[in-house]
Amino acid sequence: MAIDYRSDTQTKPTKEMLEFMFEAKVGDDVFGEDPSINELEDFAAEMFGMEASIFCPSGTMTNQIAIKCHTQPGDEVICDVSSHIYQYEGGGIAFNSGSSIKLLTGDKGRITAQQVMENINADDVHKAHTSLVSLENTSNRGGGSCYDMEEIQKIRKVCQENNLILHLDGARLFNALVEKKQTPKEYGRVFHSISICLSKSLGCPVGSLLLGTKGFIKKARRVRKVFGGGMRQAGYLAAAGIYALKNNVERLKQDHDHAKQIAGALTKKDFVTEIFPAETNIIIFGVKQPWTAQSLVEKLKESDILGHPISPMQVRLVTHLDVTPVMVEKTIDVITKL
Ligand SMILES: Cc1ncc(COP(=O)(O)O)c(C=O)c1O
Repeated sequence: MAIDYRSDTQTKPTKEMLEFMFEAKVGDDVFGEDPSINELEDFAAEMFGMEASIFCPSGTMTNQIAIKCHTQPGDEVICDVSSHIYQYEGGGIAFNSGSSIKLLTGDKGRITAQQVMENINADDVHKAHTSLVSLENTSNRGGGSCYDMEEIQKIRKVCQENNLILHLDGARLFNALVEKKQTPKEYGRVFHSISICLSKSLGCPVGSLLLGTKGFIKKARRVRKVFGGGMRQAGYLAAAGIYALKNNVERLKQDHDHAKQIAGALTKKDFVTEIFPAETNIIIFGVKQPWTAQSLVEKLKESDILGHPISPMQVRLVTHLDVTPVMVEKTIDVITKL
C-alpha cells in the first residue's frame, strides 16, 4: 500500500466515522431542515465562541464567500504572497469579488502588523480602497508554520484602527491550535470571520465551515447559494464533521511528531538544502543536483512513498491520519538509504 504524503486531503473516512455518518438524520439544508448540518454549524460556532457558522463543500468556497461578503468591487485585500486565497483559488478574488490584492512577503507565509500598517492605501481617489486583511494559519506554503497570537492581536489592532476586516483561512487551524496550545475561542475573539477545513487533517471526506456573526452568516448563506454551494441532504457529510471535531483534534499531535521525525532524517542528507522547520504536519525541503524535486519524488515512488514536487527543486510531504508509525519508520529507512 502506498504511503501518501502528497496532502492531508488524501485521508479516507475511518470505519468509526463511516458508521457515524450512516446514522445521520438528514433533511433539505437549503430549507434549513438538515438536523445534522444544523448541529454541526451550532457546535462549531459554540466551539469558537462565534455567533454562527455555515457548512460548505470546500475551503475555497468558504474563503471566497468570506471575501465576497467583506468587500465591494474595487476594494483591495491584503495577504501574504503565498496565500492559498491568491495562489490556488483560480483568481477567485478578481473573478468573484472584483477586488484588487496587495501581496506582502512574510516569513514563511506569516505577515506582521507593521507590514499591514505600511500597506493600507491612503484615502485617495487614485487608490483602491483597502478593506480586508486575510491571514492563513497554518500556512500551507510556509510549511505548516504557525502565527503567534501576539502578532495576530497586533494585526487586529491595526485593522480596528483603520476600519479593516480580518479574515482567517484556517484550513489547518486545528494543527496550529494543538501545536501552540491555543483555543478556538481565542481565535473567535480576534477574527471577524474564520474558515476551517474538515477535509484535511481532521479526516473528513468533504466539508469546510465559515464562522462569523449572525448577520455575516446570513449574507454568506445567500452567496453560497449563488456560488452553487447550497446542498440538500448533506447531513451525512456534516456528521463526519461532527465526528471529526469530537474525535480527531487531539491526535494531530501524532502527525506533527511524524513530520518532525521525517524532517530529522532529511536534515542528515547532503542532497537536502533548506528544510522548513516542520512546526506542524507539513515538511517542505529543497534538493540539489543530481536530484530535482521530480526525480526525487519518482525515486521515492519506487518504494511506494508519494510526495509532491511544489517547485523544480522543492518537495512537500504532509503527514495525516492515514500515515501510521510503521509507515513513518519505513519512510525514514528509505530516506536514510538514499
Ligand atoms: C491553506 C488552504 N486554504 C484553503 C484550501 C482550500 O480547500 P479546498 O481544497 O477544500 O477548496 C486549502 C487546500 O489545500 C489550503 O491548503
